[in-house]
Order: sequence, then C-alpha cells, then structure tokens
Amino acid sequence: MSIIEAKGLSKSFMQAVKEPGLKGAVKHLLIPRHIEKMAVQSLDLSIEAGETVAYVGPNGAGKSTTIKMLTGILMPTAGSISVNGINPYRKRMENAAQIGAVFGQRTQLWWDIPIVESFSLLKDIYQIPDAVYKTNLEMFIEMLGMREFIHLSARKLSLGQRMRADLAAALLHNPPIVYLDEPTIGLDVSVKQKIREFIKKINQEQQTTVMLTTHDLGDIEDLCKRLIIIDHGSIIYDGSLSEVKSRFARNRVIFFQVGSPLPELYQQLSQTPGMKLDLQNDQEFSVSFDRYEYTASEVVSRVMKHGEVIDFRMEDANIEQVIKAVYDGNLNLNETGA
Ligand SMILES: Nc1ncnc2c1ncn2[C@@H]1O[C@H](COP(=O)(O)OP(=O)(O)OP(=O)(O)O)[C@@H](O)[C@H]1O
Ligand SMILES: [Mg+2]
Repeated sequence: MSIIEAKGLSKSFMQAVKEPGLKGAVKHLLIPRHIEKMAVQSLDLSIEAGETVAYVGPNGAGKSTTIKMLTGILMPTAGSISVNGINPYRKRMENAAQIGAVFGQRTQLWWDIPIVESFSLLKDIYQIPDAVYKTNLEMFIEMLGMREFIHLSARKLSLGQRMRADLAAALLHNPPIVYLDEPTIGLDVSVKQKIREFIKKINQEQQTTVMLTTHDLGDIEDLCKRLIIIDHGSIIYDGSLSEVKSRFARNRVIFFQVGSPLPELYQQLSQTPGMKLDLQNDQEFSVSFDRYEYTASEVVSRVMKHGEVIDFRMEDANIEQVIKAVYDGNLNLNETGA
C-alpha cells in the first residue's frame, strides 16, 4: 500500500450567493441563498514513500483543500484517505505525529514567544528525544540560516525568516511525510534556494515523502520528479516531470531575424501542416514545428532559400510553457504521444 492513498476524495463547500450592495446584503439576511461549490471532485491519489510530488494547478483549483483533507484539518464530503495506514480525520493525534505541514500563507508558530521557545514546546508536544532534537535543531539552524533571528518572536520576523522557522518547526520531529503548501511564496531567490536545498536534503537523507504545492516552477524543476496537475477539482495529469517535458518538447521553436521581409515564405509556412508561423514584425518571426515530422535543419534551410538569415536561435520547451499549455487547454497530456 502506498504511504498516501486517496480514493474518490471529494469536498464541497456551501457558498453564500449575495447580490452586491446593501440591498443584496439585506436580501441575503432575509432569504439566504447558497450554492454548493465542488472544490475537489473524486480524486484518486497514490503516493509512494520517499517520493517528491509537485501538486500544481491554477488559483482555486483545489490544491489547499486537498492538502487540508490529507492533514486531517478538513473532513472530506466523500471518499477515503489513508496516510501511513491512518485515517487523518478520525485519528488526528496519531496523524499529527507522522506528518509535518507548512502553509505558506499563515504561520503555525506561537506569535508572541521566541522561535527557539516554540521549538522547545514542539519538542515536548511531539516527545522528541533529546539527542534527535539537538541534532535537528543544530542542523536546521545552520542550513536555514536561522541563527540571527532564533531569539525573536514570530511576530517580529520578516516573511522569509518566518517561513524558514515554520519549515523547521514542521520537521523537528522527523515526520516521514511532509506537506508544503506554497512554502516559497513571496521569498527572495536566496531564501528560496535555502529552502529548496533543505527539502532536498531531508528527502534524500531520510526518505521523507514530500508533497509540494507551488506556483514557482523553479521549485518543481529543482525538487520534484513527479507532477500532478489539478484543475477545477479534478486531476488532469499525473506522471513524471521528464515525460511531460519530452512529450511537450515534440514542439520546437526557432526564432529568425531576416534581412528583408519574405512574404512568399510567410505564405508558404502558414500553409504547411505541422508548422506554425508567428510573425513579430516584417523581419522577425518564429516557426514552431513538430520535431517528429521535421528536423531543425530542414526548417532553417527552407527559410534560407527565400532570403538572408541574419540570426536565429532555437528554444527548447520549459516546464513553464508546458504548464501554461495544460492550463490553457492546449495540450492533452493524457493522449499517447509518439
Ligand atoms: N472554507 C471555504 N468555504 C467556501 N469555499 C471554499 C473554502 N475553502 C476553499 N473554498 C473554495 O474551494 C475552491 C478551491 O480552493 P483552494 O483553496 O483549494 O484552491 P487552491 O488550488 O489552493 O488555490 P490557490 O492557488 O489560489 O491557493 C475555491 O473555489 C475556493 O473558493
Ligand atoms: Mg492554495
């Protein structure tokens, strides 16, 4: 059995329907109207121990709702969950001992006490043995660069400091599973890097299972081998990151700058199946083509036949384009590729 398993997992919320303005508010007070919003619909998830999974999707797709159900904060409307053999909602305490969770949008630290005291409280709550606590604390302070702010209270920390402290707090008890909901939101590049290295290290050294939600595609590229994309509450892709990239890399793009406008070529390219012309101006354009149908040299020589090429460059697909294409509905990833 996988470490995280969900079957037919669904969550709906009742949302108030209010017309705008005071009149709408009064009307709602007298005759309240609600609609049922399906935030997560019949999800099947299966994550193996030691995996690092990116869980991505547009705003409102249902990512945080899924994570909240997996952590036991929210009760599912339907479906079942098993995390390390435990139902997280029914056995909250047992579940808490085996997971760590970071919600980038809000802190889980005690607001008014020094960070180091929060850590010490967590040691008691989770009954972390002295030796484990000492080793972890020292390593976390070092790796996350927390020495300069460990004696400040959470309310005094900057966002990046707070996020590092939250991450450390979530992992002090060596949980086998960690859920990170936007752990790098709003952070500068150097703090982001620290956080990524830290996550990588705990995954590699302790085989911690990591489920990561992020809008930062750098996080995904750096950390995750597997990608799950959710949209409107349903999973639209679940597979390896490299497969998505190679499947998408079926399309290549070459950018050209030419000495003079080439209307005949433009006409010809726009009528060629498997090629797509995108004109920036009279003398700059790009050609995207299916690399299983054409080679790059065929495309370049076709352009050179018509006129002088001043410059050209080829661009490979990156994960940003892949995800954008999926969100825009322009890429059916579940189709079998060539
Ligand atoms: N407590 C709630 N009450 C009513 N509706 C909710 C509640 N929580 C979430 N929703 C709705 O459920 C949907 C999914 O929200 P969720 O927070 O899971 O999205 P998300 O994928 O995490 O988005 P984001 O990238 O913006 O964080 C949204 O339409 C949201 O309005
Ligand atoms: Mg969210």
